[in-house]
Amino acid sequence: MQRLSHSGLPNSHQALLKNQHLLSGRLALLGVASEHLLTKLPSSGLAMTEHAGVFQALERDGTWQASFGYDDPAVAQGSYDSIVVFLPKARAELEMRLALARSLATNKAQLILIGEKKEGIAGAVKQLKAVAPQAFKADSARHCQVWCAESIEPAAGFRVQDWLTWRAVECASVSVDIAGLPGIFSQDSLDDGTRLLLETLEEQPVEADSLLDFACGSGVIGAWIQAWQAAREAPVASVDGVDVQSQAVICARETYQRNQAVGTLYASDGLAGLDGLWSGIISNPPFHTGVRTDTSMTEQFLQDVKRHLKPGGELRLVANSFLPYEPLIKRYIGNVERLQENSRFTVYRAFRNK
Ligand SMILES: C[S@@+](CC[C@H](N)C(=O)[O-])C[C@H]1O[C@@H](n2cnc3c(N)ncnc32)[C@H](O)[C@@H]1O
Repeated sequence: MQRLSHSGLPNSHQALLKNQHLLSGRLALLGVASEHLLTKLPSSGLAMTEHAGVFQALERDGTWQASFGYDDPAVAQGSYDSIVVFLPKARAELEMRLALARSLATNKAQLILIGEKKEGIAGAVKQLKAVAPQAFKADSARHCQVWCAESIEPAAGFRVQDWLTWRAVECASVSVDIAGLPGIFSQDSLDDGTRLLLETLEEQPVEADSLLDFACGSGVIGAWIQAWQAAREAPVASVDGVDVQSQAVICARETYQRNQAVGTLYASDGLAGLDGLWSGIISNPPFHTGVRTDTSMTEQFLQDVKRHLKPGGELRLVANSFLPYEPLIKRYIGNVERLQENSRFTVYRAFRNK
């Protein structure tokens, strides 16, 4: 999810503000992308976001009940009269978000679905109508459609565990079970970039007693490294992980538990919330949010990563070959080597000076 700064609210949030006359009673907002929305609304309630950075900002605000994603205790309590669902990128996640919305509803609650046309609101309406056939289009504004369903049918308690899926991932004859949730990166199969990264880890392991997987997603890299080490009866290094997305942190914890992997899993927007030092940092970092290519998060990561590497520590990173990371790694860490490349991806390695 892209985080927007003070300068502008996302279109979907602006469309809600234009239609705030539709809101009544206690509010629940699901999928908040900017904390600046809250102060502009007439009353308060629950604000759920999957983004660790937005969540921190919502908590600081203090007037709303903030929830970090789908398994926060805050979403298991309370009922709301108006529930706003912002359209998520993944269709499967919309289904989960609508189920959460229904679990939060009072008897006569109304549900409002808002999304941009280019994000596929027209298709999403089918999903809305499957749970609320009475839904009608209330407005088109700010490139968005606003759909409203009155007196929705409340549903039984929501449990994120009911949405968990499992798949086996195999690489270099080592197999691990990986948890998935709607909206998570590469839920159905091992990403090709991640596979290339794991193959280099088999051929040239990162020599480190403590590792960090930046942007860990479902925890596949950490679980695989430890399973690979255990299969060789080598010492198993703990692999900490960090991701900004709530579903990723939930899945990584499940993946680690199922595979008996060891490491602390953090929710953080970039490395800002972390103060550890590791002897190896591994990553298949994010580069794409929304419709345009965006490398700013990874550029920020490359600027910050040296502070978290022990002297002599290694950065191992896979990325689409067209992304301009090689000069950045050189600038911020030091000499960079290309360990592997294929038609799409390159695996880079760089060491921090001793
Ligand atoms: C390319 S995926 C890699 C996931 C996993 N490591 C794998 O290989 O399957 C990138 C991950 O970066 C996470 N991410 C995006 N922005 C982030 C940020 N600012 N800080 C930390 N993680 C972020 C996404 O949630 C996503 O899980």
